[in-house]
Amino acid sequence: MIELDRAGRTFRVKRTLVHAVRDLSFTVAPGEFVGYLGPNGAGKSTTIKMLCGILTPSSGRVRVAGLDPSRKRTTLARRIGVVFGQRTTLWWDLPLKDSFELIRLLYKVDRGTFARRLAELTETLDLGDFLRTPVRQLSLGQRMRGDLAAALLHAPDVLVLDEPTIGLDVVSKASIRAFLARVNAEQGTTVLLTTHDLGDIERLCRRVMLIDHGSLAFDGTLDDLMASAPGHATIEEVVTHLYTSSRQ
Ligand SMILES: Nc1ncnc2c1ncn2[C@@H]1O[C@H](COP(=O)(O)OP(=O)(O)OP(=O)(O)O)[C@@H](O)[C@H]1O
Ligand SMILES: [Mg+2]
Repeated sequence: MIELDRAGRTFRVKRTLVHAVRDLSFTVAPGEFVGYLGPNGAGKSTTIKMLCGILTPSSGRVRVAGLDPSRKRTTLARRIGVVFGQRTTLWWDLPLKDSFELIRLLYKVDRGTFARRLAELTETLDLGDFLRTPVRQLSLGQRMRGDLAAALLHAPDVLVLDEPTIGLDVVSKASIRAFLARVNAEQGTTVLLTTHDLGDIERLCRRVMLIDHGSLAFDGTLDDLMASAPGHATIEEVVTHLYTSSRQ
């Protein structure tokens, strides 16, 4: 592609093709709580963007709740909730409560059901003190709880989380972990959790998938993961071993 700079001179933009994921295949059953691990740049966020229809794969087949995400993004939106820990999906200048009201309108949730769910989420995520605060004034931990509530207000079957505990203190992390365990156990919500915090994985995930260079390097139970690297006692050691051995 040839473009002009401000002075009207031409310069060439070099394009390179990046295979963010390739030969990646997995199935998650309803009600599972799966950890999705991998080093920086492994392809986790790319996978998540394909699962919710933000990115369309150049080849292959993706189905979430029986739907093709890139072709049925709007229909799928009613069945899936997504949290990107690094980026809020809330309206920056609006009080949290107003963001929730907009979500109610977008997802066409009736007022009664919405009020009941909001009351539940306000209690379990302890949102009461800052429901009227503009999102830009919230601390990271408060904003993350707001984002989680926003992702669950329409009671999706599938919850996809991309680093929902990033930057949180130990107490906030513990309360978000307890909340996620409860959503999975009580509502049967299927959860796919991406995190670099191995404590999240240990405490929440029965199954772990590990991706590197865009392909699955491990898929099994947490126990299988721990047994996969004999001589390594902690999950940090096991995962370090897997990340480094797959790069040699
Ligand atoms: N918009 C883009 N254009 C070009 N390359 C991209 C783009 N987004 C991601 N990539 C590349 O795709 C690969 C996978 O990126 P991805 O964001 O999926 O990684 P990740 O596993 O989520 O990493 P992290 O743990 O750092 O969040 C990386 O090599 C990245 O540089
Ligand atoms: Mg990422």
